[in-house]
Amino acid sequence: MSSLSSLLVVALAIVSFYSVSTVVVTYTATFEACVQGLTCPEGNPSRFNHTFALNGTLSPNVTLQVGDVLRFDLETNVPIHPLTICRNSPIPKFCQDANGTDVLNIPITKAGDSTVAVFTRPGTFYYGCNYHPGMGAFVNVTRPTSLRKLFQHV
Ligand SMILES: *[C@@H]1O[C@H](CO)[C@@H](O)[C@H](O)[C@H]1NC(C)=O
Ligand SMILES: *[C@@H]1O[C@H](CO)[C@@H](O)[C@H](O)[C@H]1NC(C)=O
Ligand SMILES: *[C@@H]1O[C@H](CO)[C@@H](O)[C@H](O)[C@H]1NC(C)=O
Ligand SMILES: *[C@@H]1O[C@H](CO)[C@@H](O)[C@H](O)[C@H]1NC(C)=O
Ligand SMILES: *[C@@H]1O[C@H](CO)[C@@H](O)[C@H](O)[C@H]1NC(C)=O
Repeated sequence: MSSLSSLLVVALAIVSFYSVSTVVVTYTATFEACVQGLTCPEGNPSRFNHTFALNGTLSPNVTLQVGDVLRFDLETNVPIHPLTICRNSPIPKFCQDANGTDVLNIPITKAGDSTVAVFTRPGTFYYGCNYHPGMGAFVNVTRPTSLRKLFQHV
């Protein structure tokens, strides 16, 4: 009986630790030149030929797990390209015209600005410019498949 209750205590401790653990996935975001049909994302307007880069990679897809926080630290001034994280955005919009509850962060435009979004359910989300298509990519959020968070947290 006592070993059963101590097992329960351990199990509860693990569950509560697990549920409060949060992984913050941080990227430095810049706005970089890209080449149409090669490194520009689908839909990128040829009058810009630019897209966001995360940690130096042009428009990478981001994969997260439920509960993760996605953080962007902007290092380029982008007055007409607010960096936005959103849902329900048809391809290749990547957050163009996203508004209301589809916008998951506070869009940012100034070097030095940071923004975050918390993902509480699995699914396909996006990041990109709030005003123009083809300047972003997918944020795919999956259910945790392991005790990864337990170990990343410590
Ligand atoms: C991106 O770069 C920053 C700064 O070097 C680093 O702290 C962060 O962990 C990197 N993000 C990813 C997802 O690797
Ligand atoms: C963007 O690239 C396209 C195709 O390479 C080119 O026709 C266009 O002039 C470029 N636009 C700018 C603003 O450089
Ligand atoms: C992101 O994923 C989409 C859909 O699978 C794919 O078309 C695109 O090439 C990927 N982008 C990068 C940069 O890997
Ligand atoms: C939000 O975006 C949708 C789709 O682009 C548009 O129909 C709607 O008018 C927009 N709402 C606001 C308040 O801007
Ligand atoms: C992200 O999800 C979309 C839509 O389900 C899928 O087309 C794409 O391949 C996924 N990309 C990655 C990198 O998992």
